[in-house]
Parts: sequence; C-alpha cells; structure tokens
Amino acid sequence: MKVVAIASYKGGVGKTTLTANIGTAIARLGRRVLLVDLDPQANLTFSFYRPEVWRSDLADQRRTVKAWFESWRPDTLPPPLAGYVTTPPDAALAVAPGGGRLDLLASHLSLGDVEMDLTARLGGAQAHRSTRHYFDVYQRLSTGLASLDLHAYDLVLIDCPPHFGVVTRAAIAACDHVLVPARPDLLSTLGIEHLLGKLGRFVWEYNRVAELQSGLHPEVKQLDPRVLGVVLMMVQYYRGRPTSFLRRHIDQIADLGVPVFAAMIRSSNRAFAGSADAQLPAVLSPDTPYDVVRELVDLVEEFLRRIGASGLGVGGLGAWHGEL
Ligand SMILES: Nc1ncnc2c1ncn2[C@@H]1O[C@H](COP(=O)(O)OP(=O)(O)OP(=O)(O)O)[C@@H](O)[C@H]1O
Ligand SMILES: [Mg+2]
Repeated sequence: MKVVAIASYKGGVGKTTLTANIGTAIARLGRRVLLVDLDPQANLTFSFYRPEVWRSDLADQRRTVKAWFESWRPDTLPPPLAGYVTTPPDAALAVAPGGGRLDLLASHLSLGDVEMDLTARLGGAQAHRSTRHYFDVYQRLSTGLASLDLHAYDLVLIDCPPHFGVVTRAAIAACDHVLVPARPDLLSTLGIEHLLGKLGRFVWEYNRVAELQSGLHPEVKQLDPRVLGVVLMMVQYYRGRPTSFLRRHIDQIADLGVPVFAAMIRSSNRAFAGSADAQLPAVLSPDTPYDVVRELVDLVEEFLRRIGASGLGVGGLGAWHGEL
C-alpha cells in the first residue's frame, strides 16, 4: 500500500482536482484506491457526494474523518478506520468495469475543531518537541491507515488543506510520497519553496523526537517522505501551445531542487468548472475535452512511474476513453 499526500502552501492550485482525478483513474485501471479528505472545506468529498447526501448519509451517521479522530481516546489505539470509510456510488459504477474500487474517507465542515484539539494537545501552535503527546498526535493517522487490512488498498491519496497545520503534518507522518500541485506563476513558486522548507523542518523535528523518545516509543520509525514532484495545473495555452512564461516557471521550480512533472494540465473551465455537480471527476466524464483527458492520462502514467508502481497496469489507461 503506497500513501501519497497531496499538499501545497497556497490555496486553489488544484490539490483536490488532482487527488480526485488520479485516484479515480487508477481505480478505473482495476486498483483499490482510498481517498482521504483532510480539508475542512470538504471539496474532495463534495466532488463525490451532493451536500444533502453528505449531511444525511455521512455527517449525521458519524462516517467522516472528523468522527474518526473524535472517537479516539487518549492512550489507546485509534478505532479501526475501515468503519468510517464510504464508497461513493457514482464513482463506484464508473470504475467497476476495470474491477477496481474507489473509497473515500470523507471530511467534515467542522474538521477545524480537530485541528484545534490536536494543536492544544501538543501544547499550542508554538509548542515544540518536548511534549509527551507528540506521537499520540502525529502517529494517529498512520496508525489508522495501518489498521486497514494491509491488502485492502493499493494506493491511499490524502488531500491536505492549504496550510501546514497539525493535520497536514500528521498526513506527512503517514505518507511515503508528497505530490505538490502548483499554478505556473511566481506566487506558487514561493509557495513551493515555503512548503519544502516546512516539510524539511518537520521531518527533522519528528526524527529528532523519535530519537529522544525512543525509550517511550520504540515503535516509531524515522520519516523519509519523498517529494514526487510538482505538477503544473491550469497551464495557459496560446494558439495550442504553452505560453513562453511557462519555461521560466519550470526553471524556477527546478532551481528549488524539486522535480517537475513533464505532464501538466491545461486550464479548462469546460473540463473542471462543472465537475462539482457531476459527482464524477473530469478524467471519467464523457463531457471532458479530449486534450484534457489525454493530459490527465499522461499525468497518471507519469505518477505511477514516479511512485514505482508502473506494474499497476498503465497499458489499460486508454481503454475507457474510446478516442484515445
Ligand atoms: N486545469 C484547470 N482548469 C480550470 N479550472 C481548474 C483546473 N484545475 C482545477 N480547476 C478549478 O480551480 C479551482 C481550485 O481547484 P482545487 O479545488 O482543485 O484546488 P485546491 O488546491 O484543492 O484548493 P484549496 O486549497 O482551496 O483546497 C476549482 O474550482 C477547480 O474546479
Ligand atoms: Mg482542495
């Protein structure tokens, strides 16, 4: 089971869009994928459920990641995550022909309460490693994911909120890889630099605490999440070609020492603006323009190669879209 966190320091750069499309495409290939929505905006959740269905079937039934975090009692193991996972019906139908599965650990609009509770447990926003609750907080998600049957999922994708708070850090502590979407503009480049700095500092701190508390927590392993790369989203084209600014942004990002995906996704309101109503990500929607589907497919292929999982069946990618 590979765990990938999709993170950025800047909002609105395409984290949720990327999570939904990559996850659905890989499930359509016949793999078992779990999407985890850790953002209180719950946009990933609402790409698969209408708000009223989310309220009645998920929030009111305590079937969200917030309910899972809240049912944990200090100094015990977190409750099994499997009981909180749901299967979005439209997506399930769409991925079924490939024999795969797409599940979701839904978010909650009040997930911010969990962020505050966990921050308080650490001793506040400025608290550092001395706290004895450090691993209670940061290991909770990884312990929860480990509670899923080891063979239940091939891939877990975690959609993070657009900041580096305690919930995002818990996702980093639970992941093998980090994927960073960005718009090709200067602010996004600054955001990437900031994220990489925060990420490096957190991993250093976590590993240091693991050493210091090795007597108390012999089970904690050193973290070494790998930055898979930056995916450029909402790329502007002029007469069918990327604009000349693009090369400059790619070079700026590469100067930060982070790989940039060769595959990138163009700006397309037709493909992405309406997808919130359809409960089906663009990659599987019959209304998505061919060029965009092709770019998404290329991106999924490159993603699978970069996580070292090309054996997941890249060859089958074109099959669901007759034109490919
Ligand atoms: N390639 C694209 N072309 C046009 N619109 C896009 C594209 N990709 C995403 N969008 C739209 O841009 C908006 C932001 O995308 P998305 O929600 O995926 O970003 P995000 O990084 O998850 O945002 P947040 O930080 O708020 O969670 C959404 O309305 C989405 O539909
Ligand atoms: Mg989002």
